[in-house]
Amino acid sequence: MLAEKSGARGENLPFLARGCCWRISWAARWGGSVNREQVWDGWASNIAESPRRPCDLHYREPMTSAADDLRSAVAEAITVQIPNEVDESRLPRKLAIHLTADRLVREALAAGHAGTADIAEVTAFGAGNTAMMVARVHAQMAYVVKVDTSPSIVREAHLLRRMATDPSLPAATRTAFPSVFAIDDTPPLFGYLMELVEGAEPLHHALRRQDPGTTDLFTGLWTQILAPAYDATKNARLAHNVREDYFVRARGRLESAAAEGAIPQPDQPLVIDDGNRTVTIAGGWRAAIHQAEDLLEAARPTFGTWVHGDPNPENVLWTGSPGSGNTYRLLDPKDWWTGDYLFDIAKLGHYTVVTAPTEAGNVTATVAEVGDRHEISYDAAAFAWGRSVERSLLGLVAPFASDSGDSRWAQRYHLAFAANLLGIAGPRAQRARASGESDQARLAAVALGSGLMALADAGAT
Ligand SMILES: Nc1ncnc2c1ncn2[C@@H]1O[C@H](COP(=O)(O)OP(=O)(O)O)[C@@H](O)[C@H]1O
Ligand SMILES: [Mg+2]
Repeated sequence: MLAEKSGARGENLPFLARGCCWRISWAARWGGSVNREQVWDGWASNIAESPRRPCDLHYREPMTSAADDLRSAVAEAITVQIPNEVDESRLPRKLAIHLTADRLVREALAAGHAGTADIAEVTAFGAGNTAMMVARVHAQMAYVVKVDTSPSIVREAHLLRRMATDPSLPAATRTAFPSVFAIDDTPPLFGYLMELVEGAEPLHHALRRQDPGTTDLFTGLWTQILAPAYDATKNARLAHNVREDYFVRARGRLESAAAEGAIPQPDQPLVIDDGNRTVTIAGGWRAAIHQAEDLLEAARPTFGTWVHGDPNPENVLWTGSPGSGNTYRLLDPKDWWTGDYLFDIAKLGHYTVVTAPTEAGNVTATVAEVGDRHEISYDAAAFAWGRSVERSLLGLVAPFASDSGDSRWAQRYHLAFAANLLGIAGPRAQRARASGESDQARLAAVALGSGLMALADAGAT
């Protein structure tokens, strides 16, 4: 029934059902008058994942009415099957999560949202029918349900709705966001149910494979979805204090990791060696971030735009349609709405250059305490492929920046790139310390080292 994903939000993500599919079969009978008989095969017992089959085009007309019937029939059946007043807080965790998902499905269906309902097959019964048609209809519906203990998921759902409908965004950007059909805003578990983006692949898979088509995917994403939205919403009145978005959160996270001893202390001298060059950060990471904030102040944008907030490649899905190019869908926006477009771009950049190859196990790293200093060494040779993709992406961004009068964008990009990496170093180091996971320790070391290297590139050491 529900294919679950876990772990992306650590403690806080109990449940994300990627494909929530029902296979429903019932006998439908159409005659001169409405005379319908439905056989509901049972709520839980009949739920299964199955490959989709194309609709039988011979039955296009009846199928349309079958889909309409399906909505109310299934809603009715589910309403009967699931008790209304169950206290989630008294249920075992897994059951409570499933109950939240069930409620969301029922609410969506009751509102007539059948998701990607597909009538897969309409088969006429054999002999003996006097009505115009007596046929067995097989249908399948699919949604995605996201459940979490944090009420921020409710804000996320409302934000998705706004992003899908706000007329200030170009139509192509609006349609990139999945439709949200139901929201559960009652504690202890919160959730929402949305359209399943079927047959799409997350962009990070292409990065993992080092797919030669990745550059084209980035170009399509920029050209079709991101740039038009930045352009349409660019406004000097939206220029805000980017300090908060860039470094405040990253510094807070590093401080709590340092307090646990998971990363070097804020004022401990650091030597970073990426296999190609060595940079010494004599005053430690806190002073370097301080200096970076001054540089950011000088390079801050004079306008703000709509932003996604976290368009890292795991939150971008794409499908290729022969002849008409690729289609892009966006998930999981941060609840900022406005911000610095370059911070969005740095989400793509840092992931492409550093995070993807490190998570794929292509980067070696060591951390050593030598006297009073920490030495972080990693092999940046594995970043080369990602750098070439990043270069082409920045080649697209440059004219937009120039047309917008954003003359300091290149320096600010280094800062945004660094801020993103420094933002993940602390939590990954804490996770490695708690669980002993060596891949988390490696990512923490590489993120800290390359984040500080990017600060050096921007002029803060
Ligand atoms: N509507 C959807 N359609 C298809 N896949 C989805 C959908 N929503 C989420 N996913 C898949 O689940 C992953 C995690 O979802 P996401 O909303 O980004 O959760 P998280 O907050 O944990 O990052 C995505 O990267 C994507 O692969
Ligand atoms: Mg995500």
